Amino acid sequence: MSSETPIQVLLIEDEEFDVRRVRRTIKPFEQRIHIAAVVPNGRMALDLIRERDGAFDVVIMDFQIAGGLMGENLIRELKRTDESLQIIVITKMTVNVMDFEFANSLVMAGAFWYCTKYPGDIEEYIYQPTDFVLSVFNAYNKRVLEREQHKTKRKLLRTIEESLGQKRIIGTSPSVANLRHQIERCAESDVSVLISGASGTGKELVAHNIHYRSRRRLENFIPINCGSIPADLVESELFGYEKGAFTGANAAKPGLFEVANHGTLFLDEVSELPPAAQVKLLRVIQEGEIEKIGRTEPLKVDIRIIAATNKNLEHEVAERRFREDLYYRLNVVPVSVPPLRERSEDIPLLTEHFLREFAADMGKVLPEVTPEAMSVLTFAPWKGNVRELKNVVQRLLFMNEPVITREIVQFALGLSAESSGGASGAAFEFTTSERDLPLRQLERIVRQKYVEHVRAESGSDAEAAKKLGLAPSNYHRMCKELGIK
Ligand SMILES: Nc1ncnc2c1ncn2[C@@H]1O[C@H](COP(=O)(O)OP(=O)(O)OP(=O)(O)O)[C@@H](O)[C@H]1O
Ligand SMILES: [Mg+2]
Repeated sequence: MSSETPIQVLLIEDEEFDVRRVRRTIKPFEQRIHIAAVVPNGRMALDLIRERDGAFDVVIMDFQIAGGLMGENLIRELKRTDESLQIIVITKMTVNVMDFEFANSLVMAGAFWYCTKYPGDIEEYIYQPTDFVLSVFNAYNKRVLEREQHKTKRKLLRTIEESLGQKRIIGTSPSVANLRHQIERCAESDVSVLISGASGTGKELVAHNIHYRSRRRLENFIPINCGSIPADLVESELFGYEKGAFTGANAAKPGLFEVANHGTLFLDEVSELPPAAQVKLLRVIQEGEIEKIGRTEPLKVDIRIIAATNKNLEHEVAERRFREDLYYRLNVVPVSVPPLRERSEDIPLLTEHFLREFAADMGKVLPEVTPEAMSVLTFAPWKGNVRELKNVVQRLLFMNEPVITREIVQFALGLSAESSGGASGAAFEFTTSERDLPLRQLERIVRQKYVEHVRAESGSDAEAAKKLGLAPSNYHRMCKELGIK
């Protein structure tokens, strides 16, 4: 408790007589407890709390006051106005003192404590002055804690809102509308969900949306790519181990299941899970417990499982590569994400969305896309689905063209390994090291390759300059800048 500022109390009491009684009880502690305001009814109390926004720590209220709004209803309204406000109720000693039901109804409504006063006109202290004063101190401590908790929670919720905003599912096609509907349904419950769909269709995005719309949203969302963990490490990664479980286990390691406790575990590429890990996963789902390596007692966990696969898992089951019992446990609610070409009406919207997003990130002006260019984008095969579209849009921005034409789109599509079937053939490929370059360098390389490509397709410098939309002098300067002979 801070010693400088006394606890700020709002007293709701309509009898002058009872106000004096409270004052008298608090008097020896007036350095620490300050009655900041006294109001005669509930309405005035609520108005004052709103007006002084957070100024009161503790409300002391008489249980029965005039003015209609009183008792449990008033407690609820007070808590609704300021959720971390602590409320101490004063009742007459004769009324319900030993009545558990009564005390319980106050606590259920949100009261912190209740104290009794002498009945009638005995102008004395509150019945148990020490209890009363102690309860004010304790209420204040709770107030401070809860205020911090609520602040943290609000911050978390804001982060979630932002993250959901960034991870918005774009599209107005019937299949995306249906997907949204399924996400809402999945978010309402805790059932296991199996998301299937081709690479790049948005499976992880769907899982993310389910988690952050579910009651677990304040807990962890832990994505695991089952295909990228080496087989002999899967178990220790997922379930962890105790210190000394095996040679080299110098310290205990929590598994990802422990980290995800109370939250959601996203098992991406679940078909890649080795058989031993499949058995253990089944156990987690069936029993709600994990077997940590080197630990005899199983560990209770509460985890929501969302799995994803781009393989046909039923086929994996038929081929005995995936356990059938696990398959049924995971596939309680199947969600299938359609390939992009089956919702091509969403492509213009997605293109606009990614253009805006990347342009803002890269600090570029938004280029114009001609209708012909949009049509090429809309009818491309998109074997790599939304992820490929996203990459192509990024490339388009690298090219720094104010107007994106059909030719430019075709060229950008040609760079796509995935879609090479659809476009004019790959003009060039990035090497692995080029892909890892920072944006600015990569941008330079793209421009360089783009200009070289246009030159190779043109009969003369003049023609190339024209195709690039540059004056000859600018064209030569650009070639020189890019180191093109
Ligand atoms: N409908 C959509 N709206 C906006 N962005 C999307 C949409 N679908 C996918 N994306 C974006 O496309 C990219 C690929 O999506 P995601 O990683 O969820 O696909 P995936 O199905 O998990 O792919 P993989 O099978 O390759 O793991 C992500 O950047 C994602 O945010
Ligand atoms: Mg994925």
